[in-house]
Amino acid sequence: MICDNLSVGRNGHLYFAGHDTVDLAKKYGTPVYLMDEDKIREKCRIYKNALQKYFGEKAVPLYASKANCFKRLYEIMTEEGMGIDVVSSGEILTAVSAGFDMSKAYFHSNNKTDWDIAFAMDNGVGYFVADNYEEIDAIEKEAAKRGISQKILLRLTPGIDPHTYEANSTGKIDSKFGTAIETGQALEITKYALEKEHILLRGFHCHVGSQVFEEDVFERAAVIMLEFMAECKEKLGYITDELDLGGGYGIRYVESDPHLDIETKVGQVAEVVKATCNRLDLALPEIRMEPGRTIVADAGMVLYTVGSVKKIAGYKNYVSIDGGMSDSPRYALYKAKYTCFLANKMNEAYSFKASVVGRCCESGDIIQEDVMLPESVGRYDILALCTTGAYHYSMASRYNKLPIPATIMLRGGTESYVAVKGETLEDLIRNDV
Ligand code: LLP
Repeated sequence: MICDNLSVGRNGHLYFAGHDTVDLAKKYGTPVYLMDEDKIREKCRIYKNALQKYFGEKAVPLYASKANCFKRLYEIMTEEGMGIDVVSSGEILTAVSAGFDMSKAYFHSNNKTDWDIAFAMDNGVGYFVADNYEEIDAIEKEAAKRGISQKILLRLTPGIDPHTYEANSTGKIDSKFGTAIETGQALEITKYALEKEHILLRGFHCHVGSQVFEEDVFERAAVIMLEFMAECKEKLGYITDELDLGGGYGIRYVESDPHLDIETKVGQVAEVVKATCNRLDLALPEIRMEPGRTIVADAGMVLYTVGSVKKIAGYKNYVSIDGGMSDSPRYALYKAKYTCFLANKMNEAYSFKASVVGRCCESGDIIQEDVMLPESVGRYDILALCTTGAYHYSMASRYNKLPIPATIMLRGGTESYVAVKGETLEDLIRNDV
């Protein structure tokens, strides 16, 4: 199994986080998002303990809200002592409504509007991760109006190609995000930020990509950032307090994906960071990391009901399910690989090759191509799509006026509860006038 929260029961059913998924499908209906609360907490603790062990008390992981965002998650983040990364007023509102301490929130995005900036300040967001000159000006203006000094980090691009898919590659020089170090522009924008009266530059941020497995990407990024910090110290007399290395560690979607041990990874980065600080005569900055996917991905699963099986002899077989790219868009967008099972037929031979497709009106609405399923697959079988806790609910759409499914939390092996209600048909026309 790709994750230790998956197992097969004596009844031949798929179990997830200790629950019979066939029972869950009956109880809550399909399509439905499931989330394993215990797994989320386990991942938060792995990051928190590793960061503090290797970088000291002040190091904090920030959960990247874009991976999955609903109120209950922020209550968990509060209880686990996590900070958060938010990228919009919508994510800020969700966190605020869950009572999250916003002084531990870092506001990203490459284009924060004046309205967003004011909204974030009004809600006590601790840090802005400023992306460009216009944003620095706008933050200065809003901070001046309020008579405050706003803490910021500057987003820089270290010029690293993480060798993940293009949509996820963000740290290269020609990126839309941040300011490049290599071109000299990073030093210029740092000087600019330091001159602002109502801005307190706490340090720098970089994020090189997502679903990254390559050996030493974070280490290389860290060295480039630390060398830049040394340049700032030498040329501007500026001492950096915080260094945020972003998110991006990869998760296992299929058996052939490697398993990354986060504690080991953080330890390796720490070794390089400490050695580089020594070499450059820098004090160790407070370290932040921003994991999203590795916190929630394998805590998630989507359950669907099979509607039809179409066999086109000599060509292809299709298994249609009652959701689609509207709730699980990552294959349509990135050809992302997943593992799927027939939850009620785990012990049959998986000898029937088929593409699992959704119910949206376009051929690109594919959940996964050429997967193996039991020969007997048919209407009313339950199909489980694994490792869907990241970038599914948060990227869901109402294409074809399909309602967004409920999110059900599972905990302690026996308990389940609704964290986000499923949309009703009425919800779909609520804003039509
Ligand atoms: N920090 C920053 C500034 C980011 O841009 C991201 C992801 C993260 C942290 C979290 O990265 P993670 O640990 O989740 O890899 N929709 C795409 C993923 C886009 C990621 C964007 N930024 C997907 O479904 O694969």
